[in-house]
Amino acid sequence: QSNAMWGGRFAAGPDAIMEAINASISFDKRLAAQDIAGSRAHAAMLAATGIISDTDADAIREGLLTVLSEIEGGAFAFSTALEDIHMNVEARLKEVIGEPAGRLHTARSRNDQVATDFRLWVRDQIDAAVTGLRALIGALLVQAEAGADWVMPGFTHLQTAQPVTWGHHMMAYVEMFARDMGRFSDARARMNESPLGAAALAGTSFPIDRWMTAEALGFDRPMANSLDAVSDRDFALEFLGAASICAMHLSRFAEELVIWSSAQFRFVTLSDRFSTGSSIMPQKKNPDAAELIRAKIGRIFGANVALMTVMKGLPLAYSKDMQEDKEQVFDAADNLMLALAAMEGMVRDMSANRPALEAAAASGFSTATDLADWLVRELGLPFREAHHVTGRLVAMAEAKGCDLPDLSLADMQSVHADIRADVFDVLGVHNSVASRVSYGGTAPEQVRAQVARWKERLG
Ligand code: ARG
Repeated sequence: QSNAMWGGRFAAGPDAIMEAINASISFDKRLAAQDIAGSRAHAAMLAATGIISDTDADAIREGLLTVLSEIEGGAFAFSTALEDIHMNVEARLKEVIGEPAGRLHTARSRNDQVATDFRLWVRDQIDAAVTGLRALIGALLVQAEAGADWVMPGFTHLQTAQPVTWGHHMMAYVEMFARDMGRFSDARARMNESPLGAAALAGTSFPIDRWMTAEALGFDRPMANSLDAVSDRDFALEFLGAASICAMHLSRFAEELVIWSSAQFRFVTLSDRFSTGSSIMPQKKNPDAAELIRAKIGRIFGANVALMTVMKGLPLAYSKDMQEDKEQVFDAADNLMLALAAMEGMVRDMSANRPALEAAAASGFSTATDLADWLVRELGLPFREAHHVTGRLVAMAEAKGCDLPDLSLADMQSVHADIRADVFDVLGVHNSVASRVSYGGTAPEQVRAQVARWKERLG
């Protein structure tokens, strides 16, 4: 038997395989609340413009609330034969209120309907991502404030570079995650226009009021071109793009936590709440949450590439290919929210191992740059020559199997006769970080100022 919604010109119903490839209800039922909100706004507008009667609109709007509560209560029987959430809801509305249900789809197509539903859904996810990022930044600020003057090694090439402060490292991620928040907010501002009323692709001859539905659904304005409104999914791609960059940041931090919690580094202890044990090795405490964040990020990148690929060759306007937008975005959003929450929990619970951080900061000739700077400042050497002198002192220390502060003054003077005893002051890691007072530098006072700025900005 042919489809009740569009079967007029069909003599036969679909093959079972056709039904399986065509139906989206198994996943787009997640759009139920958005679909019903869109339909309720549409019905109210149809009545306000005199296209349907107030009585019919009231029945539709009431009936839709009944359908919504059935869905939310788990009582709704979703049907694959009815393809998608839009037709499932409308078919049930017909059962609940009868004939007026058939008037809801006046001046509307599933094309503008799905574009509207999906924008509403993505908009909520953007808000959720911003909330999750805010919480993560809050956790990082607590760590940064506590450890504004804890010294740790800073790395380049994962080789010891210069001492930095724990707070400074935490605040580097605050800056990154704050830019992620900005990217989500920018995307939200751009996507917040209503496709509803674009109808199938060309607009409609009915005297609809697109500003009314746009306002009812919290959009800033209706989209200006009906073809564009039903054709593009750039809003979903912008979400995935912002999510991908955010995921990349999460993954880098996760990688650091995996390294830092190893027995070789011992920079941090992750809490039991965010670790797991081994079924065979009793001593093990594994940083699984960090590893899974690092891994799940792949799905978000994958979704971004998948949807770009779906969209890249489509002629205007709607093609059924676009039904493939949803699962990718759903999965990416779910995993992003999970990764943000897991990272926040790990950061809140983790404790820095200050003695290990400080010992590591002092190793690996980490204050060699301070020594070179001292030669420039105190003896007036050109930086290149200071670099060379310091390099020879590092080689000497390496040959003796000691660190730079362990060399004697006589050792130092054998490389450059003018070196004085006060050089040893700059070889300590605390003096080193305290000296980096340039704006944005690692000195505790700079870190504290940065924490204070963010606390004020985030309220
Ligand atoms: N389930 C469809 C989708 O997600 C809804 C739009 C269908 N429109 C159409 N003309 N078949 O894209």
